[in-house]
Amino acid sequence: MLRPIELSARAEALQPSLTLAIAARAKALRADGQDICSLSAGEPDFDTPAFIRQAATAALEAGHTRYGPAAGEPALRQAIAAKLSTENQVPTTADQVLVTNGGKQALYNLFQVLLGPGDELLLPSPYWLSYPEMAKLAGASVRLIPSAAADGFWLDPHQLEAAITPASKLLVLNSPSNPTGMVLALEDLEAIAAVLRRHPQVAVVCDEIYEFLLAPGLTHHSFAAAAPDLAGRIFTVNGFAKGWAMTGWRVGWLAGSQPVIAAASALQSQSTSNVCSFAQFGALAAISGPRDCVLEMAAEFSRRRCLLSDGLMGLEGLALVPPQGAFYAFADISSKGLDSMTFCNRLLEEQGLAAVPGVAFGDDRCIRLSCAASPATIKDGLARLGQFLASP
Ligand SMILES: Cc1ncc(COP(=O)(O)O)c(C=O)c1O
Repeated sequence: MLRPIELSARAEALQPSLTLAIAARAKALRADGQDICSLSAGEPDFDTPAFIRQAATAALEAGHTRYGPAAGEPALRQAIAAKLSTENQVPTTADQVLVTNGGKQALYNLFQVLLGPGDELLLPSPYWLSYPEMAKLAGASVRLIPSAAADGFWLDPHQLEAAITPASKLLVLNSPSNPTGMVLALEDLEAIAAVLRRHPQVAVVCDEIYEFLLAPGLTHHSFAAAAPDLAGRIFTVNGFAKGWAMTGWRVGWLAGSQPVIAAASALQSQSTSNVCSFAQFGALAAISGPRDCVLEMAAEFSRRRCLLSDGLMGLEGLALVPPQGAFYAFADISSKGLDSMTFCNRLLEEQGLAAVPGVAFGDDRCIRLSCAASPATIKDGLARLGQFLASP
């Protein structure tokens, strides 16, 4: 008889992504012929703009099909540095940029080169579900800094200060936030910077992947621009997935202090090597091109965000902090008396609506609904959720 292969302790401790599991379940039910409505998606439902697709096709035809530099195509690193310097007011040189396999690998690489056993990740909660798993994979522990719906999921600087210990090595800021849609204002960033000036051992990673997806009238502020004196320990993560509708292309970046970028680049050279060469040329066209397409998609997401949040606020038995950015609403369903997993399982079984349980994001009172769906799908989802809430 074959002896079962033992997994590493690292793999045993890993939680598979619940969002992907829910999406797979909804897909299976649909394939089974059931009438399923999904508000669980974490990706734009638009196609990548044509000029970006054409640039990648041209690069493929021009023979950009071989290994490239592990840190990324020089022209793309330069263009990302220029974007950060001019659009985000974060002065950056090309050697401070690493092109990664999506924002996810930027975070993964950074956690691997900064965190180890005995280190702590400071994580405002609710959080995007990959951060704690990536910290654990690096051998670090996670210290949550809870925030409540009653406070608009706002990160309280006093609570941040109280959470910091000598082992605290890295703080995550994610604005606009997945899952809450909370957006940090300039004053918030300044208050956080004031705390961090007293704790020089704490570096910061700012996940700005939803940078362009903001409610009308709001402005995105990069932390490194709000606190230039701390720029040496601030890392910016971003990518093409959400703003340019390029989720499948897998192109993102990590920017910050050059020695850390060099270490992350060395890690990448020993793990995945360069990001797909011709995809990088599509990304180069995207970042060098006009922002019209990005702003048009962002405006459509704002209309849908309003449709979803207005609809949710009209439902009996549900509470919502209206999201200010990204494309999610994180609604409190605790009045139904069910934990978020049971709620979502029953919602899918009884009403055919797929949503993501808040427990995956550190808050079991909530569920996450996405507005990255057509207005008709959002209205259909709202009707199904209303029926579920009204049912015994
Ligand atoms: C907060 C957050 N950060 C990073 C990512 C990763 O994005 P990418 O597709 O560029 O890897 C996601 C994707 O859902 C996200 O929600």
